[in-house]
Amino acid sequence: MFLEPARQIAGSLRFPGDKSISHRLVLISLLLDGSLELINLSDCVDVATSLKLVEKLGIAVRRDNNAVRLKSRQQAITEFSTPVELDCGNSGTTARLLAGVLAGQPGSYLLTGDASLSRRPMLRVVEPLRQMGAKIECADAGTLPIRINGQPTLTPAAFFNRHSSAQVKSALLLAGLRATGSTVIEEPFSSRDHTERLLSFLGADISQAENRISLNGPFRLAGAFSFTIPGDVSSAAFFAVAAATFPGSRIELKNILLNPGRTGFFNVLKRMGTGVSFNEQNDRQNEPVGTAVITGGTLHGVEIVAAEIPSLIDELPALAVAMAFANGPSQVTGASELRRKETDRISNLISQLQKAGVKCQELPDGFRIEGNSRLTEVIAMEPADDHRLAMAFAILACRSEKGLFIKNPDCVKISFPDFFNCLQNCVSS
Ligand code: S3P
Repeated sequence: MFLEPARQIAGSLRFPGDKSISHRLVLISLLLDGSLELINLSDCVDVATSLKLVEKLGIAVRRDNNAVRLKSRQQAITEFSTPVELDCGNSGTTARLLAGVLAGQPGSYLLTGDASLSRRPMLRVVEPLRQMGAKIECADAGTLPIRINGQPTLTPAAFFNRHSSAQVKSALLLAGLRATGSTVIEEPFSSRDHTERLLSFLGADISQAENRISLNGPFRLAGAFSFTIPGDVSSAAFFAVAAATFPGSRIELKNILLNPGRTGFFNVLKRMGTGVSFNEQNDRQNEPVGTAVITGGTLHGVEIVAAEIPSLIDELPALAVAMAFANGPSQVTGASELRRKETDRISNLISQLQKAGVKCQELPDGFRIEGNSRLTEVIAMEPADDHRLAMAFAILACRSEKGLFIKNPDCVKISFPDFFNCLQNCVSS
């Protein structure tokens, strides 16, 4: 796909539901005795994977116009005696959260995934679940496939979530619903807290003090609930960065999730000199929601360190594009987790930016970008089938002088199928 350079970014955008929240709502249906109505559920491929799997496990899924309805059958999960294969595709959230859900659900399960997911670390969720009495194994390399023989009850335990991974924390909390006593999780830096907010909304006894979360089990989720999912803030981030890189641009990102565990990139853009303001803010079903207005100005270099990383980990490829056009150097450290995403995002991001003419270098746990870039050559960017890299390179193309090609742009559908249409609607060339 060839993308032309842009002159300005302008518009008012709305986004499909947040991917992290959508996954949690779909997967929690397996633990719920009752029904869920989900409005503005993410339409991305990863969430479709979670939906397909809960359906395979016995949840009735019905799609109405703008709602998806999930209903547990007599027994929420049909008991499978021969392992049922659950292909998690490209989705780490599906694989890790599902491991936590199924650890406490009698039955025999085999979690698999595509080539990228099959390289990603799973021991971080398998080992603590074993400490809770789960019968769970993964491949020798610590990767998928994962085999689970679900147990009717689990034992509570205390954990240190050393990678500050929300997926690991969520898996343990979901398993903790089947344990008698306190499941306690501490993390060096707070990771996104959607599972905690959701469990609390559904009535579970869960509390948080600083970086320590405690859940008192067992708890049976029951009832009929309707959720309206706020727009995906990680999808919106690409448009925030696009506006930030064009002085004089203005974009409105309407009705997006404004959970502080996800909005770290707005703080960074502000430090860089971008205008960021929020309005129409309110709390919806325990999650903060509102409209962000972004205005582009002169961008300055910025430093991002470990404590901030969990709140912006998925936005680092987009932020790297803003850094390329800052008037001074920028540096990111404490982000080694970025090497364990859909691809090694440090190595792929930096090698592709270098190819495009951005002066930058890899660090073991981050990167450094010199700024003041001028992109004068028309080259083909290779996102290596990584959706967030493809979208970051598309924003880079807007700010290039002659345009850029993006190879396999289709991978954006993993998180944001409508990305290129949205982009086309707000660029003027
Ligand atoms: C996610 C948590 C993060 C994030 C991922 C979604 C979630 O991963 O990068 O895109 O929904 O919990 P980790 O838990 O591995 O940090």
